[in-house]
Amino acid sequence: MNIAIVGATGNVGRKIIEILEKKQINIENLFLLASKNSEGKKINYNGKEHTVTNLEKFDFSSVKIAFFAAGSEVAEKWAHVAADKTIVIDNSKYFRKDPDIPLIVPEVNSKKLSDVKNKNIIANANCSVIPVVVALKPLHDLYNINRIVASTYQSVSGAGKSAMDELLSQTEDYFQNKEIDSKNFTKQIAFNAIPHIDSFLENGYTKEEQKTTDEIKKILDKKIKVTSTCVRIPVLVSHCISANVEFNKKCDLDEIRKVLSTSPGCKVIDEHQDGGYITPVEAEDKFETFISRIRLDESRENTINLWIVSDNLVKGAALNAVQIAESLITNDFYGR
Ligand SMILES: NC(=O)c1ccc[n+]([C@@H]2O[C@H](COP(=O)([O-])OP(=O)(O)OC[C@H]3O[C@@H](n4cnc5c(N)ncnc54)[C@H](OP(=O)(O)O)[C@@H]3O)[C@@H](O)[C@H]2O)c1
Repeated sequence: MNIAIVGATGNVGRKIIEILEKKQINIENLFLLASKNSEGKKINYNGKEHTVTNLEKFDFSSVKIAFFAAGSEVAEKWAHVAADKTIVIDNSKYFRKDPDIPLIVPEVNSKKLSDVKNKNIIANANCSVIPVVVALKPLHDLYNINRIVASTYQSVSGAGKSAMDELLSQTEDYFQNKEIDSKNFTKQIAFNAIPHIDSFLENGYTKEEQKTTDEIKKILDKKIKVTSTCVRIPVLVSHCISANVEFNKKCDLDEIRKVLSTSPGCKVIDEHQDGGYITPVEAEDKFETFISRIRLDESRENTINLWIVSDNLVKGAALNAVQIAESLITNDFYGR
């Protein structure tokens, strides 16, 4: 099987390469693509050096799956070109709202994969939405969720590799008493928290908050009421979500813990003592969505609070995309 990765030099692209390697997926030819600035760069895959090709010069004819991890503008311009020849799994926000394009998190809605036939494109969900739906699908099946209040704490890697560099250089400048320069964020990110991700909408929400709401509903159930606040925090990797979840039925914490402990992709770490919960650093490079701090909301009936943490580059992006590819292959969705 031949595979192409568009955006192979970026945060998500590099993670896709790492996960393909870890999972030992049988690949005949791996084509690594990026902008013309990266043409000729060398990237290691399975102990062999691969040369990065300029996307503009590439022909997708021989490719079985093309992972896109190069942002919305590249997806808008190139995904349909690739989709004429192959199946595209796109990590950007560009196709997520399109009703003809499936938005897939395999643990939750792999049945929707058959919609790939519409346009040969599958959208990968937002990096903080993926852990929310992985953790809440089993609870929706159990008690029927009425409303979700999601407050996200998102790491800088969610804004690309240059944003990670900015956090590190601002931290250095802070200790050297130098002036702090912000390029990727609207305010200083080192030692700070910024309640603003993506641009503002007329209703006062940000596009990231709108994406969180829209995507949770599209993947889980459009009847669920959702509201969210998205905050960027000075952490390199992993996103956290404080979720307040109201059910239509009476719920039981022991049953919730038991069900989540055996649900695909979930890992419960919930000891009510010092350190008995997960933090972003511990979730880094892990495949699981971690769930901690499970407790009743004592101010509201049939409602709980949860703390959900997941590596935004792994399950929040690259791993989910690779799992989509695996589901396509296993379920034989190739009419070609
Ligand atoms: N980071 C996350 O947590 C996360 C999670 C889910 C989804 N996503 C989405 O995944 C996409 C990539 O994010 P990222 O964090 O990996 O960004 P990134 O680190 O900034 O990497 C961007 C990649 O896109 C390539 N690229 C840019 N312009 C290009 C062009 N005109 N033609 C070909 N390649 C081009 C870059 O190549 P050069 O090196 O040559 O510039 C680089 O490989 C974005 O849509 C993002 O929203 C990110």
